[in-house]
Amino acid sequence: MASVFLETFGCQMNELDSELVRSQLRSLGHVFTDDWRVADVVLFNTCSVRERAESKAYSRLGIIGQRKKRGEQVILGVLGCMAERDGPSLLRRYPQVDLMCGPGELDRLPMLIDNSFRSERGPAEERVALAGDRTRRSSTLAAAGDDLELLDLGRAFDPDGRDGAPWSAYVRITRGCNKFCTYCVVPNTRGAEVHRPPDHIVEECRRLVDAGVVEITLLGQTVNHYRYTHGVTVDSQGREAPQIGPGLAAFRANALPDGRTTTFAMLLARIHDEVPRLRRLRFLTSYPRDFGVDVLDVLASRPRLCPYVHAPVQSGSDRMLKLMNRGYTIDEYRAFVDRLFERVPDATLAGDFIVGFPTETEEDFEQSLALVRELPFKNNFIFKYSPRPGTVAIGRFEDDVPLAEKKLRNNRMLAVQSETSRRVHRSWVGRTVEMIIERVEATAPGEGVEVAAELDADAGFEPAAGTGAGALRSSRGAGVALSVLGQRSTATRRAHAAESVVITGRTTGDLIVSASASAEADIRPGAIVRVHLEHAEPLLLRGRVVVE
Ligand code: 5AD
Ligand code: SF4
Repeated sequence: MASVFLETFGCQMNELDSELVRSQLRSLGHVFTDDWRVADVVLFNTCSVRERAESKAYSRLGIIGQRKKRGEQVILGVLGCMAERDGPSLLRRYPQVDLMCGPGELDRLPMLIDNSFRSERGPAEERVALAGDRTRRSSTLAAAGDDLELLDLGRAFDPDGRDGAPWSAYVRITRGCNKFCTYCVVPNTRGAEVHRPPDHIVEECRRLVDAGVVEITLLGQTVNHYRYTHGVTVDSQGREAPQIGPGLAAFRANALPDGRTTTFAMLLARIHDEVPRLRRLRFLTSYPRDFGVDVLDVLASRPRLCPYVHAPVQSGSDRMLKLMNRGYTIDEYRAFVDRLFERVPDATLAGDFIVGFPTETEEDFEQSLALVRELPFKNNFIFKYSPRPGTVAIGRFEDDVPLAEKKLRNNRMLAVQSETSRRVHRSWVGRTVEMIIERVEATAPGEGVEVAAELDADAGFEPAAGTGAGALRSSRGAGVALSVLGQRSTATRRAHAAESVVITGRTTGDLIVSASASAEADIRPGAIVRVHLEHAEPLLLRGRVVVE
């Protein structure tokens, strides 16, 4: 039994991986500590999406290296995308690293830790678990030998086992990505798309709700590509097993699912209908091209399904989209947004943009700005292009937009997004909507709630990279962003003088709300209340709790 410190970088997929690693190691008797200085095992679950995330992790390795130089016994492990991208060469460059485990091999982590404890320093095979290009070799529907599923299936349903908000949970439906956008490392680090059996997913949701979860966010890199063909892949006990995705042809307009297939729309409907005590069902991240009308119809007809669509557009220039290999044009994206609001009028839309992609001219960039003005994005996460080893773009294009220009474009886009966010927020003023409480602040009458926006803090994964919920993604949403909003202050607003509590949280559309409430209402994190929205700002809406 050891004490373990685990730090997570990057996206929600990594957050979920870390949660599963935690429950797996806890079940083996290990205990977790928040203090890396006293831990026997220090693990970093890393991200490779942008260089900045990697630099942070490397500097952490340096710090632990110093601890080891002082003669302290500590096992240092690199998990996640950086391990997979760097490969065993990382062990030569950072000899303080004892073990490496790719995101597709996390079920083997306990064995790696065991090996590290047992031997002084074993051979690389005993210290490293990486997929290499194995996950892309299989052309069959079977995700052969998919032990990783056991990690998802072995999840602890104990609310104390989850970090952050025990009332909110992620559930993976798809791993990996088949898209190969030219800038992106994910298809290399997380491998080919693998879809989990619908029964496993529904069961996991049901058990989470039994354990007190109120809100579930389904995760997939291109979540709407979920598709499972029944009767094709079974494990050794004859039960359905995860399977490799069918490829993009399955999403062509005329490729209707046969009777053996569970589509993304069907999966959403199943979870909604079969887990009736689940209050909120959300999903991340959508790929805009293959977002079918069937999904919109399910969104429109299922009240506990959150009509929040995060569908990154990445650029407003068709030329850029082509170089990025995104697979759609701006007109196609517009048509998707039109369909979304036509069928689901209360929907909210968010996205991602990359600024300073190779060869991006002022004109290309202005097309991106124009799109941010035109479409009702409630928020956008804005990223400066970062060339990543192993991607197509790094070999094909020169990173020719200077960093200073990228920063400038980032800030210009933030300013435009801020206006668009305010406009979207205004359109909600006067309405009474549901919100889930994420934070409760007891304030004496007359005290203020502080809100901050910061331009280009270049924070990488910290909030302020975007507007509104400015984390990498809104993640468990406002929780992340709001804790920062509370810390850095540029503007202070008066809370309602007569009330004693101020709450922050999110609507079903992921709009951030700060509301005053009387102490009598059911006010606690995870509770769902109704709020009357009264005032719009770029970062959030303000209102008051209505007791009906
Ligand atoms: N440089 C900058 N941004 C990137 N993203 C992915 N790869 C890169 C890169 N190399 C952004 C995209 C994606 C989000 C998760 O990160 O906008 O949607
Ligand atoms: Fe990366 Fe593109 Fe896949 Fe998203 S869709 S994970 S940007 S390759």
